[in-house]
Amino acid sequence: MKDHLVIFDTTLRDGEQSPGASMTKDEKVRIAKQLEKLQVDVIEAGFPAASQGDFDSVHAVASVVKDSTVCALARAVEHDIVRAGEAIKVANSGRIHTFIATSPIHMEKKLRMSPDEVVERAVWAVKRARDFTDNVEFSPEDAGRSELDFLCRVIEAAIDAGATTINIPDTVGYNMPHQFGLLFKNLIERIPNSDKAIFSAHCHNDLGLAAANSLAAVRNGARQVECTINGLGERAGNTALEEVVMAVKTRQDIFNVDTRINTREILPASRLVSSITGFAVQPNKAIVGANAFSHESGIHQDGVLKHRETYEIMRAEDVGWTTNKMVLGKHSGRNAFRTRLEELGITFDAEQDLNDAFARFKELADRKHEIYDEDLQSLVTDNAIQRVENETYRLVSLKAASETGEKPHAEVTLWIAGEESSASAEGSGLVDATFKAIEKLVASGSTLELYSVSNVTNGTDSMGETSVRLELAGRIVNGQGSDTDIVTASAKAYINALNKLKAKNEKAHPQAHV
Ligand code: KIV
Ligand code: ZN
Repeated sequence: MKDHLVIFDTTLRDGEQSPGASMTKDEKVRIAKQLEKLQVDVIEAGFPAASQGDFDSVHAVASVVKDSTVCALARAVEHDIVRAGEAIKVANSGRIHTFIATSPIHMEKKLRMSPDEVVERAVWAVKRARDFTDNVEFSPEDAGRSELDFLCRVIEAAIDAGATTINIPDTVGYNMPHQFGLLFKNLIERIPNSDKAIFSAHCHNDLGLAAANSLAAVRNGARQVECTINGLGERAGNTALEEVVMAVKTRQDIFNVDTRINTREILPASRLVSSITGFAVQPNKAIVGANAFSHESGIHQDGVLKHRETYEIMRAEDVGWTTNKMVLGKHSGRNAFRTRLEELGITFDAEQDLNDAFARFKELADRKHEIYDEDLQSLVTDNAIQRVENETYRLVSLKAASETGEKPHAEVTLWIAGEESSASAEGSGLVDATFKAIEKLVASGSTLELYSVSNVTNGTDSMGETSVRLELAGRIVNGQGSDTDIVTASAKAYINALNKLKAKNEKAHPQAHV
C-alpha cells in the first residue's frame, strides 16, 4: 500500500508574494478552479489579514472550490486568526495555517521574543485556530535554520495543542537535500507525538534546491509538499508543483507515495498562472518549458523515433502537451464559443462579459484563421485583465511604423481619466517608440524593469502575450496584454501596469512582524 502525498498548492499565497504577482479576486478564482481540476488536495488561497481585498479573495475561493481544502494563512496573532477563520467559514473543507518564527536570528532580531514566549504563542495560536476548524497547520518559520532541540519542543507542543499538519519551511532556501531529509527523520523519530500529525515540506529555491529538498523530505517521512505552479514565489521562488509531482510519478521505484494529481492539467495550469501573473516560463524549465520535450540533436531525434524511451523519461501528453488543435474559426457562433469555453472551465458571471469576449473572438477570427484553445484562454485572460476597476488610462488608438533606414515612430492616443490625448515619439524600435509616446502623455516617473513577449501558439499569426514590470518608489507592478500584434499587446501591457500603479494597494506582508 502506498501512502498518499498531500499536494498543497500555495501559488495564490506564497506565489503571490513575488513582487508584481499580486492577483485580483477574479484571477484567483480562475486559478483556484484550475487547481481544483488539477486535483490538488489543498489550495492556500491567501493571507486574509493583509487587506479587505485579500480577505474577499480567500472568501471567494472558499465559496467556489468544492473538492480541494481551502487554506488561509495567519500569523500567530488574534486579528489574523479571526480573519482567516471568517474567510474560510464558507468552505466545504477549510484549514487555517498559522506560523511563528523559531530560528535564533528571527526570534531575536525580528520577533524580539524569547524561545519560551515563542512556544507559548505557538500553542495559543493553534488552540485559537481550532476554535474555527479542526484542520490546523502550524509552521515554525525558518525551521531550516532553527535548533533541533527547540524545534522538537515547539512542534510537540503545537501537536498537543491540536495542530494536524506540521509544516517545516526552509524559508530562505539554505538547506542541502541530505540535511533537510535528515531534519525530517530526526523530527519524526524524536517528537513523541509525531504520529498525530502529517509532516510537510515547504522549500524556497534560493540555491536551486527546492524540489530536491522537498523530495528528500518525502524520502524521510514528509507526507505533504507545499509548492506553486511554475515554482512562482518570492526571490527564486518555491518548489515547483510540476517537478515534485512528476518526480514522484516517474520514480515510483524510489518514492512509495502517490498523489491524486491529474497530470494532464499541469500545462494548462502553468499557462494560466503565467498569463495572469505575467511571469513567463523559461524555455528550458522542467516539465512546462517550451523545450522540455523537444529534441534538437539528430541523434536524440533518431533515438526517440526508433524507441521513445531512449531519450524520454516522461510522455509529453501526460503533462498536458498536445499539438495545437484548431477548435474554432471565423464562422463559429456564440454558442460554439460559449460551449468550448465551458469545456475549458471558463464561465462568465455576467452575460455582458461573454458578449465582450465573443466580440473580441470575432475580431481575432478575422485576423487569424484557426483559433486554438490557447488563443481562447489568452483572449479571456486579456479581457479580464484589461477590465481594471477605476482605470485611469485606456488605449484608444495606436499607429506604429518602421521603415529601413528610418527611425521607428509611434503615435498613441490614450483616454486619461475621461479625456483623450495624443502624443508621438521615436524609439530604437516600435515598442520603444510606443512606450516613449505613452510616457509623454502620463509622465509616470516609473522605471521599466522587465519587458517580455511570448507566443501563445506556433506560427507568425500567433497571439503574443507581453508582460511589463514597472517600479515606482519601491512598488513593483506587472502589466499584461495580448494581441496578434505585439506592439499593441505591449502598449496594453504598459497601460495595464500604469493602471495598477495608480490603484491603491495597501496590504501587509505576512512575514513582516506585527
Ligand atoms: O517560507 C515560509 O517560511 C513561509 C511561511 C509563512 C510558512 O512561507
Ligand atoms: Zn514560503
